[in-house]
Amino acid sequence: MNKPELWRDAGADVAADGAGSVDFASMSEDELMAYEAKYCSWGDTVHYMEVPKIFERCEGSFLFDGEGTPFLDLQMWHSAVNFGYANPRLNEATRRQLDRLPQVSSKFLHREKIELATRLGQRIERTWGMAGRAHFNVGGAQANEDALKLVRNATGGKSRMFAFEGGYHGRTLGTTAITSSYRYRRKFGAFADRAQFVPFPYCFRCPYGKKRDDCDLYCVDQFARLFDSEYHAVWDAKVEECEFAAFFAEPIQGTGGYIIPPQGYFEKLKEVLEARKILLVDDEVQMGFYRAGKFWAMENFNVKPDVIVFGKSLTNGLNPLSGLWAREELISPDVWGAGMTHSTYSSNPMGTAVALENIKMMEEGDYETMTREKGAYFLEGLKELQRRYPGYVGHVDGMGLALRMELCEADGFTPNPKLANELNQGGFRGGIEVGGKRYGLVLDVGGYYKNTVVFAPNLSITTAEIDLGLGLIDRLMAAATRT
Ligand SMILES: Cc1ncc(COP(=O)(O)O)c(C=O)c1O
Repeated sequence: MNKPELWRDAGADVAADGAGSVDFASMSEDELMAYEAKYCSWGDTVHYMEVPKIFERCEGSFLFDGEGTPFLDLQMWHSAVNFGYANPRLNEATRRQLDRLPQVSSKFLHREKIELATRLGQRIERTWGMAGRAHFNVGGAQANEDALKLVRNATGGKSRMFAFEGGYHGRTLGTTAITSSYRYRRKFGAFADRAQFVPFPYCFRCPYGKKRDDCDLYCVDQFARLFDSEYHAVWDAKVEECEFAAFFAEPIQGTGGYIIPPQGYFEKLKEVLEARKILLVDDEVQMGFYRAGKFWAMENFNVKPDVIVFGKSLTNGLNPLSGLWAREELISPDVWGAGMTHSTYSSNPMGTAVALENIKMMEEGDYETMTREKGAYFLEGLKELQRRYPGYVGHVDGMGLALRMELCEADGFTPNPKLANELNQGGFRGGIEVGGKRYGLVLDVGGYYKNTVVFAPNLSITTAEIDLGLGLIDRLMAAATRT
């Protein structure tokens, strides 16, 4: 039913008189899929899957389908649910807000918004000694849109940006211009100036063919070279001005395949940016909130961003609240005044209340130690898989609980997207037996060559769940590599 070539017939057997007279609550998956095929747009990402999955319930690290099969989720909604499904404390905060002030126009104030902005601001003051303000919106792409407006405004309307090859910042018209994949722009024409894309330090596949041991961060030297002469197209040497307002960067590439840059990279890059008065926009939408072992992933790399963009796990996936924080001189009311951006839901109280509780929870717990220890345990398990499947597991790496496993041909280097896809689809098919029980496994495949399994498990994942996950991957690998 879900195969693209059959989609035109797929909705043929839905009730002629529409949804009003049918009981969706008791429908089988096949019946539901018939309505989905007829009434849901297929333009989102659901139909990336060969067989889309319907889930009914979630708890902790697991999703459950209609038959009650537990699916261990090692991706947690692309890192939007860092604190576990149905987190009792965050759900309770949502209920409390529902009873007190469930809705109020974003034109008016409410105390949760003010406290949330204050806590974020004070945290950044403590971490980096910088003063600034937070500005909210809904969704990571919209927050990046706001960041685009903010840096354009702060630089006198400069519309050109640097961004990374492999970078992802959203799929609105504006953010696809700074997201590297042409695939997301191809059908829609140009809206914003396309970014100048700079190679990311993807050391396993160094774009310059160097080895990290002795490269001396040659990639940053190549970026710095752009400013040597006006003939390199970005710099007016006479007035010492760059055509570009900002560099949009993920501290660790998310969609690009959880690629962790080498230490020293961002420090050296930031020196170039500061010298050329180019702002650093740190997109923490996927890596923020302890995913990579620190509140902000960029803290791992010893540089101070000018703008921070966040979303996803801010609310643990309970509300699409997102936002940005910017240094005071970029966002003070005299430069970023009333109405610079607006969205009806931009600081909705359900979102700010759960985000606030989440930030308090992060302040109370030692997430740094937790993510470091669990991440090290998980990575050790991935290294064991690398030993068990020599060549096929070409590269593993991790920082906190952001981990990667790059699948290759037997030579250990040639990308093997087919194997990655088999693991992904096999996990979703479920029915994988471990310890006499049947499980499904939620994985995500990304990376430049679609051969990288990226892991963003629940930060509270237990070691037993990590073992279960590794066991499930082992079963899938064994089946997929059996000759
Ligand atoms: C780094 C990064 N920025 C921005 C976005 C876009 O966020 P959203 O999907 O909420 O629009 C994503 C989503 O995956 C992301 O990973």
